[in-house]
Amino acid sequence: MKKISPSVMCVDFFKLEEAVRAFEENGIEYIHVDIMDGRFVPNYTLGTDFVKKLKERTKIPLDIHLMIEEPESKLDWFEFGEGDYVSVHYESTRHLHKAVSAIKARGAKAMVAINPATPVSALECVLGEIDGVLIMTVNPGFAGQKLVRSTLPKITQLREQLDGLGYIDVEIEVDGNVSFENAKLMTEAGADIFVAGTSSVFKKEFSLSEGIARLREVIG
Ligand code: DX5
Ligand code: ZN
Repeated sequence: MKKISPSVMCVDFFKLEEAVRAFEENGIEYIHVDIMDGRFVPNYTLGTDFVKKLKERTKIPLDIHLMIEEPESKLDWFEFGEGDYVSVHYESTRHLHKAVSAIKARGAKAMVAINPATPVSALECVLGEIDGVLIMTVNPGFAGQKLVRSTLPKITQLREQLDGLGYIDVEIEVDGNVSFENAKLMTEAGADIFVAGTSSVFKKEFSLSEGIARLREVIG
């Protein structure tokens, strides 16, 4: 079953409560929380207190996307546990296995994220250790960017590789310019979890519920 993970940095923060209720009413599977440190990516967004508050206010599992240097030394700063996904970037650490193990030791699901220029082959040694792979379909750091098209074949390639190795439960998440149009291509390529941002559910033309319904229709 395909899943939607709306990017909470795209919510109007004055209407956060309303948005979270809409996620709940529409059966949203995860809430995508972008954490940036101004070093791994040139931006800042949400932080530790925000994650804590969100966990207090909803039972929807979080999908915490850490775009930070050396995440293995900062995992303790964040509230997460069973049912939540935490992703660390392949490019952000020399100790990827350590980071993945630390996430799993807390009962959460570990995901490794790769930037557009990082090949799928870089993940070879961790595929057996992780629950998901996050394929960045734009360069991380900002909402509202255009799809890097060369990331689409990476989805297909990774799905084939995972299935070939018997890792059929390892999920593929896509993040960046997941528009209704691009979501269709990503679905065909084999993506399972769709980060929904300004390109789809947070579009101004319709309500959040309408946007979610439209995205569900596309991804099936
Ligand atoms: C990137 C973030 C968001 C998300 C926003 O790590 O998760 O920027 O891509 O979605 P779009 O690209 O639709 O604005
Ligand atoms: Zn993200």
